[in-house]
Amino acid sequence: MNLEDFALERFFARWEFKAEMLLCASDIEGLAMREVLSMADEADRRRWDELTLGYTESPGLPALREQIAGLYEHICSDEVLVFSGAQEAIFALNNVLLGPEDHAIVLKPAYESLAQVAVAAGAQVSRIQLRESEGWRLDTSAVRAALRPNTRLIFLNEPHNPTGGLSDRQTFDGLVAIAAESGARLAVDEVYRFLEFEPANRLPAGADTAPNAVSIGVMSKAFGLAGLRIGWIATRDRQLLARLAAFKDYTTICASAPAELLAVIALKSRARLLERSRGIVHSNLALLDDFFGRWSGTFEWVRPRGGSIGFARLARAADVDRFAEGMVHDTGVLIMPGSVFTDTGNHFRIGFGRTNMPEALTKLETYAVRTLG
Ligand SMILES: Cc1ncc(COP(=O)(O)O)c(C=O)c1O
Repeated sequence: MNLEDFALERFFARWEFKAEMLLCASDIEGLAMREVLSMADEADRRRWDELTLGYTESPGLPALREQIAGLYEHICSDEVLVFSGAQEAIFALNNVLLGPEDHAIVLKPAYESLAQVAVAAGAQVSRIQLRESEGWRLDTSAVRAALRPNTRLIFLNEPHNPTGGLSDRQTFDGLVAIAAESGARLAVDEVYRFLEFEPANRLPAGADTAPNAVSIGVMSKAFGLAGLRIGWIATRDRQLLARLAAFKDYTTICASAPAELLAVIALKSRARLLERSRGIVHSNLALLDDFFGRWSGTFEWVRPRGGSIGFARLARAADVDRFAEGMVHDTGVLIMPGSVFTDTGNHFRIGFGRTNMPEALTKLETYAVRTLG
């Protein structure tokens, strides 16, 4: 299998632990271990103290699968398969579903593994271009036009990385209908789910829409626990789950025992965790609204509708790659130029899930005053 370098992850490999402040991270500020353990009830605390560090059950700890199933309307715990992060789930799903005879539809820009693993699996991949001028909205007619007789997979991402876009209900229902009519399978990467700015805009989970549809979720974003590396696939398609489980035998076999138990504890307290995450996002968003208002004409963005990231634009002759490189060297603050997503529109990803975002934004502003005038 011939995988292209994952430009976003290579970018982070260079900067993530070198830059002082990440103004482009997509995760929510990680919780401390003591905070997670303080949420444990007595029984879970005992399980934690007595946990043996052997192999774990390959499909995932039953108590964890039960907690995950609770995030869906029509999914039971047997219909959840735990992976080491959403990334492993994406890797397994594309490999299990796609081969050289198959066609997949993926958005552009996107979290690139959604497309690149499909390409590496030999599949034909059509990209649906999202445009800032259209509010980054997904056009259902473009998806319909991209369909081929061998389209096996339509891969969505709601809310979307990097734009923070979130389809409205009518569009989403249209996409569900297109998948059903065409026989393609709908997969929805929902790692930013539960971070919709207006809870009423939350879409149904992909896996709840059709018996063969798939949801991908993770502890990294809305739940603020990226270091657990716990992700999952939920689907009512048991045959697919069996193939995914067999594939996982070649990747990680099973998840980490401490991570699974910590995820159980966290999901039992999910209301509290989600409130914390939304609190961080909303207070940072208010600062960003103010910033983009004051810097209109220099920095523009389509305000995201969910998640913890947006795709802003440096609306001046200055090249955003050079701006980003200069800023991280001078101030230690990192933004992510759109070139990482093969974007050519001078965009950059900005993240607002971290508690030091106010300070990072102030530094960006000072740097912009100095270099852009
Ligand atoms: C859309 C999307 N899917 C999947 C992932 C992978 O999540 P994880 O790194 O927690 O496995 C990310 C991470 O940024 C993402 O943005």
